[in-house]
Parts: sequence; C-alpha cells; structure tokens
Amino acid sequence: MTMQFTVAIDGPAAAGKGTISKAVAKDFGFAHLDTGLLYRAVGFKTLQLEPDAITTDVAVDLAKCLTPEDLTNDSLRTGDVAQAASRVAVIPEVRDVLLEFQRTFAIRDGGAVLDGRDIGTVICPSADVKMFVTASAEVRAERRFLELSAKGHDVERAGVLADVIARDKRDSERETAPLVAAEDAVIIDTSDLTIEDAIIAANKVVASVFNGK
Ligand code: DC
Repeated sequence: MTMQFTVAIDGPAAAGKGTISKAVAKDFGFAHLDTGLLYRAVGFKTLQLEPDAITTDVAVDLAKCLTPEDLTNDSLRTGDVAQAASRVAVIPEVRDVLLEFQRTFAIRDGGAVLDGRDIGTVICPSADVKMFVTASAEVRAERRFLELSAKGHDVERAGVLADVIARDKRDSERETAPLVAAEDAVIIDTSDLTIEDAIIAANKVVASVFNGK
C-alpha cells in the first residue's frame, strides 16, 4: 500500500525553513525537496551568460535542461546566485517548467516535505500540512551573514540585509506565485526561537495531522 503525505513549508529567505524542513523530513522519514535549489540552479546558469542574452526563452531552456547534478553544485549558496534565482523565479514560463517535477515529488510514496515560496499556495494547495516560517528581516539577515561568513564568504552585514530586503520585495511582489502564506498555513515566527524550539514547534504541527491519519 502506498503512503502519501505532503508537508508544504514556505517563507522568506533565511527564516529557517530549510533547517526545519530537513529536520521534519528526517524525524518522520519523509523525502525532502528544497525547491529554491531548482531556481538557484537556473539562476546560476544565467550568470554564465551576458545579461542581454537572458531572454524568457533562454531561461526556459535552462530550466528544461536541469540535471540532478546541477542541484548539488556548491556554488548555488552565494548571494549572487540567490538574486539571480529570484530574478528567474519572476518568469511564469520558468515556474511552469519546474512545476511538474515538484508536484510529482510531493506525492511520492513514503511522504514528502517541500520548502519554498509557493508550495502551499500553488504547487501543493491540498498539502496535508502547510506551514509558513518567517522572522524579521534583521534577524534573517544576521543569520545569513553568520552563515556566509562561516563559509568564508567576504560579506558585510548591511549588504546582506539589503539583499534580503530586495529578495523579499521581488519574491512577494511578483505577479505569478508570489511569496504569501496560504490561508490555512500555520505561521511559525522564528525571530525569538532557537532552531531547536522551531523544529519542535514544526514537528508538533506535523504530528497532529500525521498521527491522526
Ligand atoms: O529558498 P531560496 O532562498 O533558496 O530561494 C531562492 C530564490 O528562488 C527565491 O528568492 C525565490 C525563488 N523561489 C521561488 O520563487 N519559489 C520557490 N518555491 C522557491 C524559491
């Protein structure tokens, strides 16, 4: 017998949704997909091109040609790639190309956790559990600053905050699949939570539905 159970976790950059998603997937034995990696992989490829060469058709072709190896590229975590990802994510045709893969992943046997911006609203509107993980821009920028610095990236606090705010604005104001909490999402504000407490809170939400199934 197959078991499908989909957990949708959305939220702005550096709110902690990646860490929470990985922990929930591990604790419940579900598979995990960081959907931001799909957009980052396309964004990364656009950075190899001249800015004038990046048309919708080109971005769509890059999305169609993604391979599993493209998602494991270490360079996907930089600030430049994040901004490039956010720019290609505005293009509806690019989002369409990536949609089917995400939906298929969501209904895989054994359960799935997907994190992103539009999982609960567009990709999996009937997910079993929806959460929206958020935190203040200042707290998120500080976390991202510490993460990038620890990895040896040469970044400044003010620059990281400006990037976070610019990405929030582009992701929230785009016409297609903007960053917004689904009406039925449980909001988890991690501004004043340790990562351990945020994971406990998320696991409680999942358990309350999963254990009743
Ligand atoms: O989650 P992330 O920071 O790795 O995402 C990078 C960018 O990709 C983000 O700024 C917007 C885009 N994105 C999206 O539009 N929809 C998703 N489901 C995931 C990411």
